[in-house]
Amino acid sequence: MTAIRGYVAPTTETGALGVHSLDQFVLAVPDANIAQEFYGNFGLDIVRDGNTLAIKTFGDEHRWGSVVEGKTKALHHLSFGCYADDLPRLKAHIEGSGVKLIDPPPGFESNGFWFRNHENVLIEVKVGPKVSPSQKAESQRTSAPAGTAGAAIRANWPPVRPRRLSHVLTFTADVDASIKFYERTLGLRLSDRASDLVAFMHGIHGSDHHLLALVKSNAPGFHHCSWDVASVNDIGLGATRMHDKGWTKGWGLGRHVLGSNYFHYVRDPWGSFAEYSCDIDYIPKEQLWPSADHKPEDSFYLWGPDVPPEFTINYEGGET
Ligand SMILES: [Fe+2]
Repeated sequence: MTAIRGYVAPTTETGALGVHSLDQFVLAVPDANIAQEFYGNFGLDIVRDGNTLAIKTFGDEHRWGSVVEGKTKALHHLSFGCYADDLPRLKAHIEGSGVKLIDPPPGFESNGFWFRNHENVLIEVKVGPKVSPSQKAESQRTSAPAGTAGAAIRANWPPVRPRRLSHVLTFTADVDASIKFYERTLGLRLSDRASDLVAFMHGIHGSDHHLLALVKSNAPGFHHCSWDVASVNDIGLGATRMHDKGWTKGWGLGRHVLGSNYFHYVRDPWGSFAEYSCDIDYIPKEQLWPSADHKPEDSFYLWGPDVPPEFTINYEGGET
């Protein structure tokens, strides 16, 4: 830790305004069939309507992500949820800060409003349920009692089913400018950062350590979606299942420093990633989180294999 940058302000002060959730992410990809196979094998509940996919978790009606058709894989937009009372206030606040509101893209009309960030990333704010957790999710650490076997044979173990979307990490050409934009418009707050390379932001109404993260690149883009699973064992089972299905590239098992979550990233068909995540830090609504700037070499991961060189390539930004 190189410098404490102050404490995040209390979230209960009068007038605190901000979104409560990352409601969904939307990707454009050239072939919905490949996306359906990838996210389906990952353990998600894929509902198909023509060439559009809804990405859900089993047993939950919420649509955490969507896939639409596009010429190349690209981040189509990010959608954030807010409380009904806050929508007009947020709208006035964002418009008042000089951001121009725009029409929704075809097929995504909603109760909310739309704008582009400083890098042309399309963003929606709408009224929706608070799908960001309101308390830290429980993670399981089970140990079989003496005289019983802890592991079932491989063929009998049920598929891993992520419980919810935790966060999305996007590329940005300017981490500082992005922090400022999301603070100013969505009311997100900085949890932690590592120099100008990466930053993690949380919601003021209680959320994971990050519901949106930003990593430096030459242009905006989608780096990964992260899915909460119940245990480290589930991370390993999910990663093994994906490997068995041919999705062999990725990074893990490891543990992050900022956010503290255990992880395994599986490389998706387009060079970005889907992350199995467990036990991420949680920032309650009324808690002060010490927002610090950390040394990059000391804060990326606590333990794990070497980072694959392709891990931070932004194919959307033209990197090869
Ligand atoms: Fe992540």
